[in-house]
This record gives sequence, structure tokens and C-alpha cells, in this order.
Amino acid sequence: MATFKVTTQGGETKDVEAPDGTILMQALNNALLVEATCGGAASCGTCHVYFEDASLAGERTEDEGYMLESLEDFVEIKDGSRLCCQMTVEARHDGCAIEIAPEA
Ligand code: FES
Repeated sequence: MATFKVTTQGGETKDVEAPDGTILMQALNNALLVEATCGGAASCGTCHVYFEDASLAGERTEDEGYMLESLEDFVEIKDGSRLCCQMTVEARHDGCAIEIAPEA
């Protein structure tokens, strides 16, 4: 289980728990914090989050990289940018600070 410290688009901070091995998008979608319009296909960008510590963000998938590139004209892409539908929760994420990116 990992607890993420999530800053919403409105600037509030919430703790969101996610079991190890689950997709981070599921926990953030259940908490009504991301839309995840495409259901996790890396094709909408509505699950974009920023990891405060980019070293905890892990490697982007190839499709994810393309999707983030396509968002670049509309929203800032940071070193810690991830599409949370492409991320599996691990114990090392416990206490991670993330921010929900603005809508593109
Ligand atoms: S849910 Fe659509 S890109 Fe992640």
C-alpha cells in the first residue's frame, strides 16, 4: 500500500491510498481527481500528473512519451510528468507528492 500526497487542480492537498500492484489511475479516478477519459489507453492525457521528485516517477512507456509530446503545446511537461494510467503502484511510492496537471 502506498499513500500519495496529491495536490488537486484547485490547490487542495489530499491523501490517496493505492494498493501495490494497482494502476495509479484507478486510485486517482476513484477519488475523482482525474478523468481518465480513454480508460487507460495512453491516448487522452487527462490522467497527467507531476511527480514532485522526478526520480520516483519511473520510466515513461513509448506510447506515453508520444502522448505527452502531443500535450506540450497546451500544458507544461516536466521531468516528473507521467500519465498515471501507465504507472503501477509500488511500495517505494509511499509518501510520494504528486500534483494533478492542468487540463490541456
Ligand atoms: S487515461 Fe487516457 S491517457 Fe491515461
